[in-house]
Amino acid sequence: MRKGFGGTGAIRGSIRRRLLTWLLVSTAVIGLLALLDTRAEAVRTANTVSDRVLAGSAMAIAERVSVDETGDGGLSVDIPYSALEMLSSTAQDRVFYRVDGPPGTFITGYRELTPLDGPWDVPVFADAAFDGAPIRVASLRRAASTGIDSIPFVVTVAETTAARGALTSTILLRSALRLGLMILGATVAVWIAVTLALRPLHRLGAALSLRSPDDLSPIDEAAPREVRGLVETVNGFMARLAGALGAMRNFTGNASHQLRTPLAVVRTQLALAARAPDLPAAQAAARAGDAAIGEAERILAQLLTLARVDAAGSAAAGAARFDLVALARDTTAERVPDAAGAGLDLGFEAEGSAEIRAEPVLVAEMLRNLIDNALRYAGRGAEATVRVRPGRGGTVVLEVQDDGPGIPEHRRAEVRARFVRGAPVQADSSGAGGSGLGLPIVEEIATLFGGALELDAGPCGRGLVARIRFPDPTGT
Ligand SMILES: Nc1ncnc2c1ncn2[C@@H]1O[C@H](COP(=O)(O)OP(=O)(O)OP(=O)(O)O)[C@@H](O)[C@H]1O
Ligand SMILES: [Mg+2]
Repeated sequence: MRKGFGGTGAIRGSIRRRLLTWLLVSTAVIGLLALLDTRAEAVRTANTVSDRVLAGSAMAIAERVSVDETGDGGLSVDIPYSALEMLSSTAQDRVFYRVDGPPGTFITGYRELTPLDGPWDVPVFADAAFDGAPIRVASLRRAASTGIDSIPFVVTVAETTAARGALTSTILLRSALRLGLMILGATVAVWIAVTLALRPLHRLGAALSLRSPDDLSPIDEAAPREVRGLVETVNGFMARLAGALGAMRNFTGNASHQLRTPLAVVRTQLALAARAPDLPAAQAAARAGDAAIGEAERILAQLLTLARVDAAGSAAAGAARFDLVALARDTTAERVPDAAGAGLDLGFEAEGSAEIRAEPVLVAEMLRNLIDNALRYAGRGAEATVRVRPGRGGTVVLEVQDDGPGIPEHRRAEVRARFVRGAPVQADSSGAGGSGLGLPIVEEIATLFGGALELDAGPCGRGLVARIRFPDPTGT
């Protein structure tokens, strides 16, 4: 019984899982970007801190560079080891230094260390490698005064970056941990939120499952805005279902009631035929039985049409624009031989074409009923005309007019009701039987497509004009 809606696997899966997947993927991407940014920031911070210390020790060494006492213009330096300890105290890092005099003169320190170029008196920094290990280098360019002129020198200090790396990874680790906790928290929050948000749906489902199977009344359970559309759709669907079920019940009820009479007649006539003393009596009974079968057939056809109209409901299913003139002309032509047989002069009047929006099969059925009435009730020698003409404000009018006895004014309202029939017809008119469903069918089909049925007396008060006014097909 249960059927999916033909969606993809993702639609069938759990809403909770989809939300969580989206949340996790998006926070993971955002988190990764945040971590990259944090790492850059951490490296920058660590560099600033250790650069300041490097610059400090370079300056401390530069303070101790002096012109040689011997007077040969050379430079000497008395390395203050406290300045280097300031660096090595940080961690497991190694420290190097080098002091150079005027270009080309090495004074002291590690020859493998390369001094950096830079402006006077401002420390410059760079990343480099020493002995295969990454280092951070700072150089400070200054001049020592001899009293007569000044001698330039460069102090270079370097340190391996193990401590800075450790600091960076500590910062990074903490950020990652914080992010992980946040994602975990969000997951729990979404889990709870989804459970709470879906509760009205569960309530709705529970309320529906408690209903009796034939309860098709609209759902009036409070529903969140997102689900209200669905509830409205289900309500609309149930209304249509109720309409269709009603039409079916109507049909079965009416069918059994209306068919009982002709079937009883058939039975009686068969019994009469069986007991008939001679052939003419048997033939008469057979003819009467055949007429009753014909009537049953007619009633069944009318009931089926009515059930179709009822089931179509207000949806006007299958409505399309078509030319009413062509349809009316064809339908009228179909009935001309029958009309001639009944002694009726059936004619058609229309000019050009006239479009309406409706279902052609039902409109033809409607017109057949009106022609059929003229045929049955107008009487021999009468004249009937089917007419299509433009009405007021873009409407299209379909008329069937006859000059028979018509329907007295006080009865025109009641003959529109189901199963209501007029006074017994003249003895010579064809097919005395009828179910009283013709005009109700006409009216219901007209209403289905926005039209209306009017019953009037013909010109000079003679006969009947049955008129259907269809709305402008271009209007909404
Ligand atoms: N053109 C007409 N002239 C005179 N009387 C009419 C005409 N059309 C309808 N009537 C009267 O209105 C009554 C109701 O018509 P309606 O078409 O609804 O039912 P029916 O013709 O009796 O049965 P059905 O059409 O279902 O076979 C008819 O019994 C008839 O008395
Ligand atoms: Mg009829």
